[in-house]
Amino acid sequence: MSGVGHGKAILLGEHAVVEGAPALVSALPEGVIVEAGPGAPRLEIEVPGWSMHVRNGDPGLPGEALAALCAALVEDGLPPEALEVKLSVEARIPDRAGVGSSAALAVGLARALAERAEYAPLLEEGADARLEAIVAASEAVFHGRASGVDAAVAVHGGVGLFQPGRGFSPLTPGVPASLVVAHTGPKPPTREAVEHVRQRCRASAEARRALQRLGDLAEAGEELLRAGDLRALGEAMDEAQHHLAFFDLSTPDLDAAVAAARAAGALGAKLTGAGGGGCIVALCPVGEERPVAESLERRCPWVGSFPCEEKR
Ligand code: MEV
Repeated sequence: MSGVGHGKAILLGEHAVVEGAPALVSALPEGVIVEAGPGAPRLEIEVPGWSMHVRNGDPGLPGEALAALCAALVEDGLPPEALEVKLSVEARIPDRAGVGSSAALAVGLARALAERAEYAPLLEEGADARLEAIVAASEAVFHGRASGVDAAVAVHGGVGLFQPGRGFSPLTPGVPASLVVAHTGPKPPTREAVEHVRQRCRASAEARRALQRLGDLAEAGEELLRAGDLRALGEAMDEAQHHLAFFDLSTPDLDAAVAAARAAGALGAKLTGAGGGGCIVALCPVGEERPVAESLERRCPWVGSFPCEEKR
């Protein structure tokens, strides 16, 4: 009995999506895999890869987020005794790095608990919207004002355009592509970066134009990916990095990783997620990701290569 949640890499549109613009986003497939273990008096989870061991209701953010997830599951109808279990988690993506680890974990946990209890409403076809709403409860604890993009991709997988209020629209890339994701180091909480961008936009028309452009690039990027124009999509990602740096969301380590990826042959590269640290994402034609990954492995503590493809 296991539950899967996908990580995510935003190709275009982070921060703009919080204000209602679209974001072009790809899943990092099976970022988190949750296995049910022995019974426990209250829900307990262990994530060795993230040095995380937390019980439902423990003090601190992870315990509070877990409590919010459990409350939302019981509210949905999951029997409370289904939460009396220990779950172990294999994480294939880094945590607190801008790649949607908290949403991937929440989705994996919810699916594993639903499987174990044979709770059909969260397992059947068409359960996605319900699962997204449940996961939103724990995401609100972690991120405050969130667009919902992480939860949507963690549930759906694949690649597509996400827009608040419209949800996730999957797309089929015109040609297959690869993503190389590299972690440069810790980042501040997403809620701080979101607030920073908001303040900047309140204070300056130039910032408002930059945010608008980030959303426009995401909308254009969807067409480029659909048409298979990876070169132009890479250029759009490079332009987005320029605007994100304007908001001071890039760092010397992110800048260096972006430059290394481009020098090694990536078609485009940028920070991904809230920024201020965390990960970059580089776009490569399939079969040409290896030199990019090798160059990033020399400078980054974690590097992963992922397909950018429609949901299987
Ligand atoms: C975080 O991965 C992406 C942001 O746009 C926040 C959000 O969409 O909730 C910065």
